[in-house]
Amino acid sequence: MIARRAAALAMLTIGAPSVRAASGALHDVQVPAGPQAQALFDLWVVMLAVCTLVFIATMAALAFALWRAPRATQETAPDVSSLGGNEPNLARPVALAVALSAVLLFALLVASVFTDRAIARLPLANALHIELTGHQWWWEARYDDAEPSRLFTTANELHVPVGRPVVLTLRADDVIHSFWVPSLHGKKDLIPGRESTLSFRADRAGVYRGPCAEYCGYQHANMTLYVIADEPADYERWAARQRQPAPAPANAQQQRGLDLIVGTTCAMCHTIAGTRAQGRRAPDLTHVASRTTIAAGTMPNNAGTRAAWIANPQRIKPGANMPPHALAPQDLAAINAFLGALQ
Ligand code: CUA
Repeated sequence: MIARRAAALAMLTIGAPSVRAASGALHDVQVPAGPQAQALFDLWVVMLAVCTLVFIATMAALAFALWRAPRATQETAPDVSSLGGNEPNLARPVALAVALSAVLLFALLVASVFTDRAIARLPLANALHIELTGHQWWWEARYDDAEPSRLFTTANELHVPVGRPVVLTLRADDVIHSFWVPSLHGKKDLIPGRESTLSFRADRAGVYRGPCAEYCGYQHANMTLYVIADEPADYERWAARQRQPAPAPANAQQQRGLDLIVGTTCAMCHTIAGTRAQGRRAPDLTHVASRTTIAAGTMPNNAGTRAAWIANPQRIKPGANMPPHALAPQDLAAINAFLGALQ
């Protein structure tokens, strides 16, 4: 209960827009959903227990010392010169305290080494491989496969199957970002020009929130990754749909929207598989309507927020790379209708 309240408070202070966007998402170190997060939580509990005991013992010793100390009264100040002679021999208690501190610190060191080993022990047979790239200010995810036709790309929301290990290859496109989904694993930086990996497993279905954890510029607070752990069959259904090209326009308005997208600036930055839009600078929109948020967790994904975003992203996320678009209302509606059908 207290953990829940603390998490709710943390969410309110860390990233209010994202909380509104997906309030059901779990963002809590104290509610681990996989073996890595569990090992880190266990270490946290050990450290909290040891430090609490040390704190209580220290305070008890202080209280005892105050109680035993010679009282000064207004008439007779304590005779300082005599203190040395009356002082009990403290050499042994001090030596004992130093030894105990050293032993406890060493025990915590050992516990942290064991935690590190526990985290690294995840068996990676049959792992799902995802290349995750941090951009200012969004996440690009490429799902690897031995068969090139089964590769696909998405953004800002990872779906992973429950119970299957996931290996992330982390890269950064511009500045340092940091992956941190506290219910699944600890933090790991994404560093430009340097590749690193992180593996985790989600053992419970759910939505896990991961705010970028390294200050990366103006919109650092609006750079949220959601990890959605699905039952394996649900995951396969989702992945099969992601591998498909975008559905063809279903009516004249959607066709008009597609024509505008490939004929204007949209296609220079965005990819929509199966169309001539093949830009690589911005999130892949092939199945954008299947995502729960837009602009990396900044707003929920619906017709209203999409229209506001396309018209003027700078009002919603100042500094983002997408420029405002002075579109006629019917053109904006057409683009939005096509994007809204990209399930
Ligand atoms: Cu990306 Cu902070």
